[in-house]
Formats: sequence, C-alpha cells, structure tokens
Amino acid sequence: MNGSTVEHIPVLTETLAGQINLPMDAVMVDATIGQGGHSFLFGRTLGPEGAIIGFDIDKKALRRAQFILKDLACKVILQHCNFSRISEQVHNQGIDKVDFILADLGVCSAQLVDVKMGLSFLHDMPLDMRIDKRLKTTAADIVNKTDEKSLADLIYKFGQDRASRRIARFIVRHRESESITRTGQLAEIVCKALGKTGRSRKSRIHPATRTFQALRIAVNNELENLKKLLASAPGLLKKNGYIAVISYHSLEDRLVKNDFKQNEKENIYRIITKKPIVPGQEEIIKNRRARSAKLRIAQKQ
Ligand SMILES: C[S@@+](CC[C@H](N)C(=O)[O-])C[C@H]1O[C@@H](n2cnc3c(N)ncnc32)[C@H](O)[C@@H]1O
Repeated sequence: MNGSTVEHIPVLTETLAGQINLPMDAVMVDATIGQGGHSFLFGRTLGPEGAIIGFDIDKKALRRAQFILKDLACKVILQHCNFSRISEQVHNQGIDKVDFILADLGVCSAQLVDVKMGLSFLHDMPLDMRIDKRLKTTAADIVNKTDEKSLADLIYKFGQDRASRRIARFIVRHRESESITRTGQLAEIVCKALGKTGRSRKSRIHPATRTFQALRIAVNNELENLKKLLASAPGLLKKNGYIAVISYHSLEDRLVKNDFKQNEKENIYRIITKKPIVPGQEEIIKNRRARSAKLRIAQKQ
C-alpha cells in the first residue's frame, strides 16, 4: 500500500470554521498542510489578495495538497519544510505578519498505511517512521542500536507506557538473535512483553500503540519541533490573529496548553478555548482518527 488512494478526513472543521473568521485578504499559514483539507476550508473564503502558506515534511502530501488547492482564488505557496522553521520561511516570502496559524499535528490517514512511512502496527511494513525522508535515523536504527535503559526511558517518556522496562528488555533480547526491521515484528515483541495478543477488550488501544508513538516522536523530533513552532507564533501573528492547534496525544496537548497559558499571562494571547474542544460522537463515528483530537485556539492581543 502506498496510501495515495486513502482520503484524509480533516477533523473539527465545523468548529474551526465557526470560531475563526478570516478577511478575504488574510494570510494563513497551514503548518501541516497534509492533504489540504483544512486549507481548502479556509481557502474557499479567501480572495485573490489572500494567501495560504502551507508546510509539510512529506513531499507526497504536498503534491496532493497542491492538487486539492489548485482552483482556489487565493495565492497558494507550498513549502517542503519543517514547521520548526516557520518564521524564517514566511519572512522569505516577503511576508512579515500573518492572520492565522493552523497546526493539525501528527500524521495523515494516507501516511499510516503507506509502506514507505513504516508507521503502522496494524500492517506489516519496514520499520522506518521518518515522515521526512531527509532525516537519517529510522525507528529500526533506534530499536536495534539503543541500549536497554535508554530505550526504556524513551518508551516511558514519549509513550508513557508503564511497562517500558519490560518492553525494552524483550526488544533487546529479541535483537540478540535477529535485527528488528519490520513493524509487524516489533508489534509482536511488544505484545509478547505485555502478555497480550492484540487489541484487548479491556483496553481501547492496541498494546503496541504507546511504543510506536514513542518511536515516532523520537524519530521525527516531534515535541522539539512543536516547541519551536509555538515559540515563533507570537512574533508572526498580527494583532487579533489566531493560532489553532489540534493535537492527538497528551504530551503535545500539554505543550500547547502551557504555551497558551504563559502567553496569556504575559498579555500576548487571549485564550479562546478555556477547555480544549473535542469532536462529538457523530464526528468520531464518521472518522475514528478524530477520537483523540483536541483543539486549542488563542488570539494575539
Ligand atoms: C494530520 S495531518 C494534517 C492534515 C491536514 N490538516 C488536512 O486537512 O489534510 C499532519 C501533517 O503534518 C505533517 N507534519 C508532521 N510534522 C510536521 C512538521 N514538523 N513540519 C511540517 N509538517 C509536518 C505530516 O506530514 C502530515 O502530512
């Protein structure tokens, strides 16, 4: 599977459209353009004076977004670039300040089933996890080369799995006889470590979910990138401009929550969402990926 036929359903679109009203000449930065679903939603309301600057670290996603956004009236500038470099990249376009920054974190549905991404524990594929293929270290490098204690720490810190020591021990024991190169192999080792065979009735999630999350965060440096994006946003937003972040796990959501709070304390932001907005049951039924989404919005003062 290469994921190119898998459609990504953007989450919380109605809420976003209801909360954020952009003038027709607005400049929006979509820090994670993906398949362009959210950008299309806002882009439809922009005129020829408006612009979308879209970032993604996955070239394939950018190609799809370009196709989806091709008929919009506004300018569309797509960048194969990490959002950690948002300020520099926006300024390179001769743009000083923007009206809206949107970041819909994580990965697209198409990337989850793409064998080249190597992200899925539900489909067997090479254990890679680099969303940006310019990165050097794969998940296979980490599981085969990291010492047991550091591996356990990584699974605990980024996956919040209390069984991290046991999982690391099983990984290290396994790799003594053969390298771990496939997602299916790793998922099986984690299941064995936890004494589980797959999704259990008691738990909502597959036993390998947290280990895979930890490795993906480590491979793609996800939390550091998010911190840089959040740190750049106040300097980039116009007065009354908005930042909206959709996160899919508590480590990301905590970073966003604390950043917005700190900026509100310093009179830089006004928080629009006192509590994060989550999708309703109806949206979750239509789009399972939405179940863990949390949206936070702040406005520059
Ligand atoms: C959940 S998808 C976004 C979907 C998009 N909102 C849509 O409606 O189609 C997240 C996207 O962010 C990209 N991404 C993840 N980390 C990134 C980063 N640090 N910089 C730029 N893009 C990133 C992924 O490649 C993926 O395409």
